[in-house]
Amino acid sequence: MKIAIYPGSFDPITKGHLDILKNAAGIFDKVIIAVAHNGQKKGFLSVEERVKLIKASIQHLDNVEVDTFEGLTIEYAKRIGAEVLIRGLRAVSDFEYEMQLSQTNSALCDDIKTVFLTTKPKYNFISSSTIKEILNNNGDISKFVPEPVYEYLTKKKGNV
Ligand code: COA
Repeated sequence: MKIAIYPGSFDPITKGHLDILKNAAGIFDKVIIAVAHNGQKKGFLSVEERVKLIKASIQHLDNVEVDTFEGLTIEYAKRIGAEVLIRGLRAVSDFEYEMQLSQTNSALCDDIKTVFLTTKPKYNFISSSTIKEILNNNGDISKFVPEPVYEYLTKKKGNV
């Protein structure tokens, strides 16, 4: 059974992430979308909120599960028996960082390989930060995030 993990902060999950996830689910037996607790990146949503929104957004993908982890991604991958790390590439600007991340992970454990998948061009410019900015400026985020995320964030914003 080939298990792949798709790590990230997913703060929040976007349609771009879902596109990568759907493609990965078609290639690997099981894909685990792994939400990183990242002490250096101040979160907008709590890890629990992110997991809840991911679960609600992936119900159509039978072989995808959600989990959380702390520490090194590669150690988490080893612990759960994953052989592959999925990373998404949106534009050339992602390449340098992703190359460095993948080579660092290979240096830490060469048995786990990074596989890069690209997003559809219509999702190339999306990032979690742009979504938060649009939301904070009362813009419409419905085109960029899955329905459950849209509903949750617009309701949450109305309550602040
Ligand atoms: N669609 C939409 N947005 C996407 C995307 C896609 N397909 N792919 C990436 N993004 C966005 C993310 O939402 C994020 O946006 P933001 O910066 O506005 O929040 C941005 O691009 C960066 O995403 P990503 O590269 O996935 O970073 P991340 O912070 O979400 O996750 C980790 C990076 C957690 C995988 C990485 O830091 C890590 O492995 N950390 C653990 C420690 C470790 O092992 N480090 C490596 C060895 S030193």
